[in-house]
Amino acid sequence: MTKKSKSSAQWLNDHEKDEYVLRARREGYRSRASYKLLEIDEKFGLLRPGTVVVDLGAAPGGWTQIAVKKCGPKGFVVGLDLLDIDPLEGAVLIKGDFTEEKVLDELTAVLEDRTVDLVISDMAPNLSGMKETDQPRAIYLTELALDFACSTLRPGGALLMKCFEGSGLDELRGDIRNSFKQLSNFKPKASRGKSREIYVLGRQFEGSRA
Ligand SMILES: C[S@@+](CC[C@H](N)C(=O)[O-])C[C@H]1O[C@@H](n2cnc3c(N)ncnc32)[C@H](O)[C@@H]1O
Repeated sequence: MTKKSKSSAQWLNDHEKDEYVLRARREGYRSRASYKLLEIDEKFGLLRPGTVVVDLGAAPGGWTQIAVKKCGPKGFVVGLDLLDIDPLEGAVLIKGDFTEEKVLDELTAVLEDRTVDLVISDMAPNLSGMKETDQPRAIYLTELALDFACSTLRPGGALLMKCFEGSGLDELRGDIRNSFKQLSNFKPKASRGKSREIYVLGRQFEGSRA
């Protein structure tokens, strides 16, 4: 077995035993990531009945499921991903690359004239394990999500993004502070201990000053 296939086998083995993977299967969630959003929401109270939510990097749909459930029939939830997402009642789903203009146009068209209360992004590039290439790609996605949030959020709205500790993150936090009154960093229990993943939340959107 090569070193790479050995580590993939180890990952699969750990994944199969992971408490959140087992819980998600039992409770009907599409991914273990659902528990991250549930914990974040429990702490910060982002998802309420009637909330208009854009979920970026939504596949397979674990966060979208939570958003639909919490925002109810008066809410509006759009999930977008590069990958197919199985239909999910109560959500509008878009397949496409968020970095592409035409996909952004599609998202804007779906929103019609709604103002967005909350943008959530769990987008992550395919990680190669090499920080020098992974980190700039991850930062790029978060910068785009921040730009999108700044052009669609209502005043007082919020932006939650998956980020990775490392180069460029402090600058990103500075950019978030320029447009949001409150900034919080949060590592949910379901976020794997070894990972550099951290969720950054901007609340009380004040309008873009960038
Ligand atoms: C960690 S997964 C999201 C899990 C999801 N929040 C859930 O609860 O099921 C990250 C997702 O980001 C998506 N992604 C990465 N880059 C993207 C891009 N440029 N446009 C759209 N989606 C992207 C990936 O395809 C992947 O499905």
